[in-house]
Amino acid sequence: MLVDSYARVVDYLRISVTERCNFRCQYCMPEKPFSWVPKENLLTFEELFEFVKIAIDEGVKKIRITGGEPLLREDLDKFIKMIYDYKNDIDLSMTTNAFLLKGVAGRLKDAGLKRLNVSIDSLKPEVAHAIAGKDVLHNVLEGVEEALRVGLKVKVNMVPMKGMNEGEILDVLEYAKARGMSIRFIEYMENAHAKANISGMKAKELLEAIAQKYGFVDEGFDGHSPSHYYVTEEGYRFGIIEPYEDDFCKKCNRIRLTAEGFLIPCLYFDEAMSIADCIKRGDIKGAALVLKEVVRTKPEKNRWGGEESEVSKRAFYETGG
Ligand code: 5AD
Ligand code: SF4
Repeated sequence: MLVDSYARVVDYLRISVTERCNFRCQYCMPEKPFSWVPKENLLTFEELFEFVKIAIDEGVKKIRITGGEPLLREDLDKFIKMIYDYKNDIDLSMTTNAFLLKGVAGRLKDAGLKRLNVSIDSLKPEVAHAIAGKDVLHNVLEGVEEALRVGLKVKVNMVPMKGMNEGEILDVLEYAKARGMSIRFIEYMENAHAKANISGMKAKELLEAIAQKYGFVDEGFDGHSPSHYYVTEEGYRFGIIEPYEDDFCKKCNRIRLTAEGFLIPCLYFDEAMSIADCIKRGDIKGAALVLKEVVRTKPEKNRWGGEESEVSKRAFYETGG
């Protein structure tokens, strides 16, 4: 079992298979980065899988594939199948922008993928375009329909921003509700790579918007999910992620692996240790030691909220938020 120095059990690994993305979301990667990680620096799926086996053997029970945009990487379904065949009860999910999902959702499901998180920040083509930097909505919605059709569970992520999609909270909630999908509103997390002057809506404002139409009760937190949950009177559950709140990190159970092999103990901080050299020379024990060291040094909490509040300098697209 992997336990950090604040007695939190770490059993959730997020693997970013590429930092490249076909979107330029304002809150994540508004400009193409000065340079991408050179292809030769990326770990192959075989190498990533070597690490996945170590992590599973050490107690990881939940794995999420992220990016950048993971569907940009070829043969992703084969990587998913490698993990599934090693341990088929791993909670295996992926976060995607869904642009390339149509035509591949079935293959991903057959490979062993169970769940998907999809970003839908707007249902208006021109607003979605303004947020993602290109005309994305049609493909995204088709991708979602296909994922549902093949039996994948889909969760919607929305980052509500003032002057952008703030009037669409209820529309996106109802879009998800009508399809049996859950939704999480994610408060914009300030980071140095996002477009300047984004003003994210806070939980209080979101709840006010939802209260215009629905009554709901506060269900609090559930397990290790960072979402604060609410349930409408008709029984629809929605979540809000509030990284600026003091208790956001209390139950954190996750670490992140980048496509280059850096293990990152916390979403907010830049600190990382590489497992690439160990994996490339077949040093399983060495990689397991790096994993344990990264878990040991997991910080207690981020620095978004509170008195020392700062903007994170880490690029979210390196580790899928
Ligand atoms: N603030 C909040 N959420 C973000 N995401 C990416 N960058 C940010 C940010 N700065 C979320 C998106 C997407 C997921 C990959 O990460 O909502 O769904
Ligand atoms: Fe790409 Fe996701 Fe970042 Fe948008 S949030 S730019 S889709 S990695």
